[in-house]
Amino acid sequence: MDIESIKIQAEAEIANTTSLASLDETRLKFLGRKGLLAQLTSSIPGLPQNERASFGSQVNALKNRITQVLEDKQRLLGIESVAPDAALTDIGLPGVSQVLGTIHPISQITEQICSIFTSMGFSVVEGPEIESEYNNFTGLNIPLEHPSRDAFDTFYLKNHKGTLLRSHTSPVQIRVMKSRKPPMAIVVPGKVYRPDAVDASHSFMFHQIEGFLVDENVHFSDLKGALETFARSVFGVDIAMRFRPHFFPFTEPSAEVDISCIICKGKGCSVCGRKGWLEVLGAGMIHPNVFKHVGIDSKKYTGFAFGMGVERIAMLKYGINDIRLFFENDLRFLKQF
Ligand code: DAH
Repeated sequence: MDIESIKIQAEAEIANTTSLASLDETRLKFLGRKGLLAQLTSSIPGLPQNERASFGSQVNALKNRITQVLEDKQRLLGIESVAPDAALTDIGLPGVSQVLGTIHPISQITEQICSIFTSMGFSVVEGPEIESEYNNFTGLNIPLEHPSRDAFDTFYLKNHKGTLLRSHTSPVQIRVMKSRKPPMAIVVPGKVYRPDAVDASHSFMFHQIEGFLVDENVHFSDLKGALETFARSVFGVDIAMRFRPHFFPFTEPSAEVDISCIICKGKGCSVCGRKGWLEVLGAGMIHPNVFKHVGIDSKKYTGFAFGMGVERIAMLKYGINDIRLFFENDLRFLKQF
């Protein structure tokens, strides 16, 4: 066979090859040790002296050419072998859906409440969950051996005297008021701990949001205005609010704040215990003794403070009747928010 017809034959065979395996056979047939080109090379010594060099370089050129065509074809077959085969694709097959997570309802409500207050000019500050006894109690005018400490039943840390898991977010008042000068308006979201037996309305860990504002000429009416804006944003514009006199050691005067029942609109139902009102938070004017502890002049400055339980707000807003649902991580519950 002459050089030109081997070239034509090789190009045709490679072009017609449909798989990598048969391409390999074609490679052996032309370029293998006993292949057609090897036969041409071995015929060189039998040629007349003056033809050998030119014949040899033609065989070399042919070898290069076939190698090139083989490589091109191999690349093509490689791509085709990973491309989907249209005949095998079931276009009716459902796709793999991406399951998106949701933000925990407690995080959502916390975020919502904080942003209501930041829109009124408050800043968000966080404090540590391990607190000093001083910040959790004494600084807040809750004296040692005073029965009011019982109301904030507390986990003490065994080997670290004077430290505890904070039982409310109020100690962050002490931290912030000590380190900043008035005016200040702060909200503090975070976890708190109390040694309560777990049931539908108690948990040993839950979340609070504390808020306080200190400036000259702050009045109880400023507190009412801020809390009304908060309650309307969370529960709706037609909600009513009332302040009941109460006692907290760190505020004077103090109040418990109720909203009109969101279920019965104040008529009385089982959710509000026929009262028509739901308690949502505690609040008051910052006690002069607290200002004294942090070195703020209570003749010049006044302030208000409030504290609320985030789980309680979420339970009222969404009509949830068991606090444990927030901590069990059952996706059937969490996915509803
Ligand atoms: N710290 C209180 C509690 O955990 C809530 C509270 C009541 C905070 C009145 C305040 C306040 O700042 O003024 O029950």
